[in-house]
This record gives sequence, C-alpha cells and structure tokens, in this order.
Amino acid sequence: MLYFVGLKIEEVYFMKVLITGGSGLIGSRITELLLAKNIKVVHLTRALNSKFGIKTFKWDWEKKEIDERCFEGVTDIIHLAGAGIADKPWTMARKHEIIQSRVFSANLIFEKVQKLGVKLNSYISASGIGYYGAVDSTNIYTEKDDSYNDFIAKSCVYWERSADQFESITRVVKLRTGVVLAKDKGALPKISKTIKLGIGSPIGTGKQAFPWIHIDDIANLYLEVLFNTEYKGVYNAVAPSQIDNASLTIAIAKVLKKKLFLPNVPAFVLKFIYGELADLILNGGMVSPEKLQNKGFKFKFNTIEEALVDIYQK
Ligand SMILES: NC(=O)c1ccc[n+]([C@@H]2O[C@H](COP(=O)([O-])OP(=O)(O)OC[C@H]3O[C@@H](n4cnc5c(N)ncnc54)[C@H](OP(=O)(O)O)[C@@H]3O)[C@@H](O)[C@H]2O)c1
Repeated sequence: MLYFVGLKIEEVYFMKVLITGGSGLIGSRITELLLAKNIKVVHLTRALNSKFGIKTFKWDWEKKEIDERCFEGVTDIIHLAGAGIADKPWTMARKHEIIQSRVFSANLIFEKVQKLGVKLNSYISASGIGYYGAVDSTNIYTEKDDSYNDFIAKSCVYWERSADQFESITRVVKLRTGVVLAKDKGALPKISKTIKLGIGSPIGTGKQAFPWIHIDDIANLYLEVLFNTEYKGVYNAVAPSQIDNASLTIAIAKVLKKKLFLPNVPAFVLKFIYGELADLILNGGMVSPEKLQNKGFKFKFNTIEEALVDIYQK
C-alpha cells in the first residue's frame, strides 16, 4: 500500500483527521487504523461517549449546531455520517432524513470550515453504488456512467454535490461504496441470520448483482486516499470479483456449513414487507473497481470466498 505518497513527513506528523459518523462500522475501523499509525483522530457525533478514548465533539445538523472546537488543528475531514439507508422503511420523513443527514451536515461543515478559515488537505466523503441504480443488469457500471433517477441514486447525487463544494478549498475524494461486509455490523449479519437458522435462500431471481467490499479493504482504502494526494474525484469502492445474490447466499451457507433447501424468496413478499426499500435488495448492477486498481490500490480480499473465510473462520 502506498502510504504518504505526495505528503511530506511533517505533514503526516501534524495530520489530524476529523471523522463524522466515526462511531459506525466504517468509521470505527478507520479510527483504529489511524490510531495504530499514531495519527490524531477526533469524531463529530450526536452522542459524546467514544470507545476509542479520543476527543469527541457534539453536533446537531438539524439545529445547525456544531462544537467549533472540533476543527482545532484539523487537516483532513472524512464525512461518513448519515441515517442508516436500510435501517427503517422509506417513509417520506425517513427519506428526508437519509438525504439531509448527509447533505445538510456536509453543508454545515463547509460553512464552519470557511468561517473559521480551517486549512484542509482533503475532504473525503462516502457515497454509494446506489448512484447507478440497476437498470441494466448486463452493464458493468464505471465512474463515467450517469446517475439513475430513483430515490437512492438521487440521494447519492446530492451527497456527492455536497462534497464537491469543498473543491474550492481542498482536494476532494468520493468513494461510491458497495455493501461493506463485516461480522457483527452492516448487511452481512442480517443476511447470515436466516442462513444460520436454516431458513436462508436467495432473494427474488437471485441474479441481481451484489457489489461488496470487505471492511478491511474499505478502511484501508480511506487511508490510501487520505495519504495519497494523487487520488481526486470519484472512485467505485467494490471488490474485483462480481457476484450475484444467489452466489452470495450459497457462499455464506458453505462457509457457515449450512444447507440451503428453500426456494427463492419471491420479490412480491419483500415488496410487501419492505415497500420501496425492497428495491435495494431486489435490484443490483455490476460495478467496476478498475479505476481504483489502475491507481494501484490492492485489495486484500478479491473473492467472496476469501472475504467470508476471513470474517467467519479466523
Ligand atoms: N456499510 C455499508 O455497506 C455502506 C455502503 C455504502 C455506503 N455506505 C455509507 O458510508 C457511511 C458510513 O457507513 P457505516 O456502515 O459506517 O454506517 P453506520 O455504521 O450506520 O454509521 C454511520 C454513523 O452516522 C451517524 N449517524 C447515524 N444517523 C445519523 C443522523 N440521522 N444524523 C447524523 N449522523 C447520523 C452515527 O454516528 P453518531 O451516532 O456518532 O453520530 C453512525 O454511527 C454511511 O454514510 C453509509 O451510507 C455504507
């Protein structure tokens, strides 16, 4: 991994990274990796307790409140905060929260960074592969493809635009992230639960693509784009091997040594239970990480089998 490319050693020494949503799945792993490199980390959070023993500062994007001390000495910002996309049904209020918790929060940071004259080396924002929608299951989406026009794609567009405003003051990187696989948080425990109970099966046709990335790869990627100033703009953050929902289900069952015997869960059942949110699970297009790989990023987990063995058997 190419750490510190483009940065002088003293710039790394004085580095202080502010992470929003740092208490979550991705932010926790990034925090651990940065602290292991003796890099200073602070979190912006809605609740002040931190499991890392680092300084945390409170904010409330709805009230436009932020503890301005969080910016003292900060050189880089990683923006991960946002209401969970698949945590609750997509009512109109929840849809607003999903967008606003990402966009209004970024706008608030931008306002404060400008007001306080914070000198940033980078602003790195999460985004999602939902940007592409899944209209064409034969297409492999690259960063050159246009966004789709459903709710989740529009959310990603607004989210990325809120990051783009930082281009006037610093280097901006946006990571269109696939489903992050980890043992205890995120989508995998939910998918594995039914398989562990012996009632798992593929969803819908099972042919919808499932772009994924191992938690260690996404966290390492954040560090890579933080340290390597050659990264600018948008990158798809998905593992190189493309799989569909059925292959994922079979791979999980194999690693967990469980049998699959039930037929696929019909799409209408999911739509009945989850409404519009079911589209996230029933649709999925293939996404290419080639731009990242051409930059030199090396994935530790290239295949789903490697990732699942690491997650469940180590
Ligand atoms: N995990 C994935 O599979 C995946 C895939 C694609 C994109 N992403 C995106 O990457 C980012 C980080 O993902 P993650 O998996 O680490 O998410 P996560 O575990 O849900 O953590 C997100 C953090 O955001 C903060 N947050 C939650 N609701 C909020 C709200 N209404 N307003 C402001 N802050 C709120 C929370 O931090 P505090 O409680 O400390 O405030 C939470 O810990 C998210 O924006 C997510 O959409 C994730």
